[in-house]
Amino acid sequence: VEPGTPVLFDTHAHLTHADFAGDLPEVLARARAAGVRYILNAGWDLASSAEAVALADPARGRYAAVGIHPHEAARAPADWRERLEELAGRPGVVALGEIGLDYHYDFSPRPLQQRLFAAQLALAGELELPVLVHDREAHADTLAVLRREADRRGGGRVRGVMHCYSGSRERAPELLGLGLWLGLGGPLTFANARRAVEVASAAPLAALLLETDCPYLAPGPYRGRRNEPAYLVRVAEALAAARGLTVAEVAEATTANAWRMLGGMTHLAE
Ligand code: NI
Repeated sequence: VEPGTPVLFDTHAHLTHADFAGDLPEVLARARAAGVRYILNAGWDLASSAEAVALADPARGRYAAVGIHPHEAARAPADWRERLEELAGRPGVVALGEIGLDYHYDFSPRPLQQRLFAAQLALAGELELPVLVHDREAHADTLAVLRREADRRGGGRVRGVMHCYSGSRERAPELLGLGLWLGLGGPLTFANARRAVEVASAAPLAALLLETDCPYLAPGPYRGRRNEPAYLVRVAEALAAARGLTVAEVAEATTANAWRMLGGMTHLAE
């Protein structure tokens, strides 16, 4: 790494995806060279969660999130909770994810998605872990499930991140009020990213995290190709441009934000 390279945290990656099976060491080397020193890999079912745990290596900046994605809700085994809890206790696991609701594909029945999402949020609360939330075309129900969990906890908050936040600037304050951060990724660099740029420029910098969601959602110059953590620099550049900051300032702030989110702190003024 060149001296002075900004230190970035990719807070949502899927390096256990089959797309990386052929060249993972090179992908990790490119990430390091680009300044992406920390990577949080999220599972989407029990098998990929176990693989994310196996790939975790905190000494090398690699962490794991374990969880069952709404796409997989219908296939979750009856004993998912025990198995997920066991995985969540392994070294390097810092969050539950990715979990949530997906009404775009509707691969699992919506009531089932909602129950699994709520149950995983409750488990995260018990384990005192933050959550990585997936919300695709399910804004109202995602918010409702999060609110119920926040009420259930008594403190009115659910710690975690709205991964690849695609909602409006107007909706963001509600999520921030629930104690959530907003994850920004490749879509911020797209030519038609008006809404994402509005969020990126208007939300408090303290509430923003960077993520690739690789192998999905490659940023502008690589759109349509396999995404990888090294490309997170493009997202940092887009956020810097939206806020009139330098990439170094964006890197410093968002990496610190990621540690606050994972460390149980809050972006809200107490
Ligand atoms: Ni993802």
